[in-house]
Amino acid sequence: MSFQTLPKVELHLHLEGAAPPSFIRGLGQEKGISLDGVFDDQGGYRFENFGQFLTVYEAACTVLQSPEDFRRLTLAVLEQSAAQGVVYSEAFLSPDFCGGGDLEAWKDYLAAMVEAANQAERDSGIVLKGVVTCIRHFGPEKAKKAATCAVETAGDFITGFGMGGDEMQGRQADFAYSFDMAREAGLALTTHAGEWGGAAEVWDAIRDLGVVRVGHGVHAINDPKLVEYLAEKGITLEVCPGSNVALGVYPDWQSHPVKKLRAAGVNVTLSTDDPPFFHTTLNREYDRLADTFGWDEEIFTQLNKTAANAAFCDAATRTKILEKLEPKT
Ligand code: ADE
Ligand code: ZN
Repeated sequence: MSFQTLPKVELHLHLEGAAPPSFIRGLGQEKGISLDGVFDDQGGYRFENFGQFLTVYEAACTVLQSPEDFRRLTLAVLEQSAAQGVVYSEAFLSPDFCGGGDLEAWKDYLAAMVEAANQAERDSGIVLKGVVTCIRHFGPEKAKKAATCAVETAGDFITGFGMGGDEMQGRQADFAYSFDMAREAGLALTTHAGEWGGAAEVWDAIRDLGVVRVGHGVHAINDPKLVEYLAEKGITLEVCPGSNVALGVYPDWQSHPVKKLRAAGVNVTLSTDDPPFFHTTLNREYDRLADTFGWDEEIFTQLNKTAANAAFCDAATRTKILEKLEPKT
């Protein structure tokens, strides 16, 4: 059974993390920028643990230097996503990598990404929304700059604010000011929590930042009260199983808690995080879940509907996505 043509919704995708290695290598060559240590012998990204992953990720980003680079990147990523059957995608966009958090520079980068999104929608029908993201290990001051960029450009395209990066540095509460700014501007909120940290990080994310979605959140499984709370409040987890297995959060697919979380009534959604880094695609994720847990098209359609209902988009867009997810008779 192939899920290639099944219409899909993806809520957790880092734009730079979705850059194919060939794209980054090509830009590096064009600009004469050394990318020593970034690639392995097979041409993939080289890392052995999460710390190295973040270092290599940031090194790869050094070749992304202009709005035009981000226009090309956005177009390449959306072509890739559309080929996976994705009809609606949300990408994490980091002002830190788009002009270093400067608002005027960010506006130029954003305009280029929106141009690419519009072109991709005309070409394949895929719809993209942007979630401006701060990076936890860059600290709260840089996060405020990212939040300012988010607030000043909130609208039809920028619909959310979130945080990625190293969850073991600082506390969620250190970023409350930025999340409050974003909330007041009407942006929907998500943060990475419970990927490396335990269930306490997820509680902190909910209590201190007021998020309605959690990036990963998989360690919630260790706290039955939290699982119950997530299910009761309808807080959505952006689960990325292949990322978790590739980075060693779980040793294998069988050990991954996604099935248990879903069975407990938690709003589970499926995404790829940084697919080329983890040698995955959204279809590969579905295939592995089908092999491991016996999941079928009906379950995947339910998960995609959950994702559509949790999407940071306007009501008209949500209705359109939900229509696209209806099985064709
Ligand atoms: N940035 C890109 N991928 C990430 C991940 N899996 N966790 C935290 N920050 C990230
Ligand atoms: Zn992520």
